[in-house]
Amino acid sequence: MRFSFAPARFLTLSACVASISAQTSFLYKWSFQDTSIQTTVPTCTRLAINITSFDTTTNSTKGTPPYYMTTYAIDGTPSTTLIGTKESDVSLIVDYPVGTLVLFSVTDANGSPGGTFAPMTVTGQSSLVASRETSHQTNLTAGASTSCIKTPSASKFTITPNVTSNSDLTTCDLLGLAIRGGVSPYTLSLVAATSPSVTNVTLPAGDNVYTYINRAAPGGHLVAAISDSTGEWATGAAIFNTKGTTDTECSGLASSSTHTDLPDLPSSSSSTSSTGSGGSPASTTTATSNTNPPRSGASTSTLSTSTTSSTNPTSAATALRPISLLGSISLILGGLMMFV
Ligand SMILES: *[C@@H]1O[C@H](CO)[C@@H](O)[C@H](O)[C@H]1NC(C)=O
Ligand SMILES: *[C@@H]1O[C@H](CO)[C@@H](O)[C@H](O)[C@H]1NC(C)=O
Ligand SMILES: *[C@@H]1O[C@H](CO)[C@@H](O)[C@H](O)[C@H]1NC(C)=O
Ligand SMILES: *[C@@H]1O[C@H](CO)[C@@H](O)[C@H](O)[C@H]1NC(C)=O
Ligand SMILES: *[C@@H]1O[C@H](CO)[C@@H](O)[C@H](O)[C@H]1NC(C)=O
Repeated sequence: MRFSFAPARFLTLSACVASISAQTSFLYKWSFQDTSIQTTVPTCTRLAINITSFDTTTNSTKGTPPYYMTTYAIDGTPSTTLIGTKESDVSLIVDYPVGTLVLFSVTDANGSPGGTFAPMTVTGQSSLVASRETSHQTNLTAGASTSCIKTPSASKFTITPNVTSNSDLTTCDLLGLAIRGGVSPYTLSLVAATSPSVTNVTLPAGDNVYTYINRAAPGGHLVAAISDSTGEWATGAAIFNTKGTTDTECSGLASSSTHTDLPDLPSSSSSTSSTGSGGSPASTTTATSNTNPPRSGASTSTLSTSTTSSTNPTSAATALRPISLLGSISLILGGLMMFV
């Protein structure tokens, strides 16, 4: 089945399948207290985070502590860290190297998402000093150190997209994702920038290649990352600039997964994702599903500006629609949201 999204219409969709339940979007939002953090973020600095009700008029909904931050490090290895056990004390220390492109996504104790902002580039001290020229809110003493940065260990758990990370992905294009290492079953996370939700798809046990039909709204950024059944993240998370038509129905096409004996990656430089000729998956399809990623917002980088029509979380429930599930893919939509 297909989903059609009427223009200028706000739509939410929420469904839970399989063992994960209680994942609900639109309960809470988060933001860095330092509002100058928009396109860059300092490394090795404790960054205070505000968690507020999604409905700032009534405060009627909220997340459930503890809160976790998943940092999708592009062409690197994402990580999930505890950022606060109570709402009044939430903070993050970015420990990725200067120059890393990251997309932040907060999750609460129930796995309910708090949304994403624009991708940001990790900076060190000099950028912080420079940015202070134009901002009173940046703390000069912060970000001075790079001592916290983790040296990534060579990972044998990798994801190789067959479309180059950081390049364009056109509506209805096929994106092949080849997974090596890790412990099956794998979970694919599709994360759009400036979106309130995350789409998780758990592949059937044994499957290691996913073919994703790009139904993301054009004009945004979409991250594809893989984690395994032990919670480890694969190296090589990729980001794409979504392009093309806003008609994202892609009739007749369905995302699918399969098992393929993948050749070893050519060199040890496989810790970064590349064009991945080695990632060309086989054609056998064992399962299909219509996978709609979270929709990106417009060009805004604050979630609050893009949530005007969703003040009542129960409207998400009334918009709930059945989802076609074929094979054994578990499609977990924490919520979908589109702004036109
Ligand atoms: C964060 O919370 C503090 C204290 O409640 C408040 O003063 C500040 O304006 C908030 N900042 C943002 C960006 O929401
Ligand atoms: C909602 O919570 C914020 C703090 O997060 C507070 O400033 C505001 O007064 C509250 N509003 C209501 C209606 O309780
Ligand atoms: C999606 O999957 C990731 C990786 O398993 C997990 O950390 C996250 O909590 C899941 N849900 C959301 C809404 O991000
Ligand atoms: C700057 O950060 C340091 C360390 O976190 C803190 O002790 C200090 O109070 C901060 N200064 C300002 C002006 O926020
Ligand atoms: C990526 O792989 C899929 C199959 O998984 C294939 O249909 C598609 O054409 C490939 N794209 C590129 C650019 O090689």
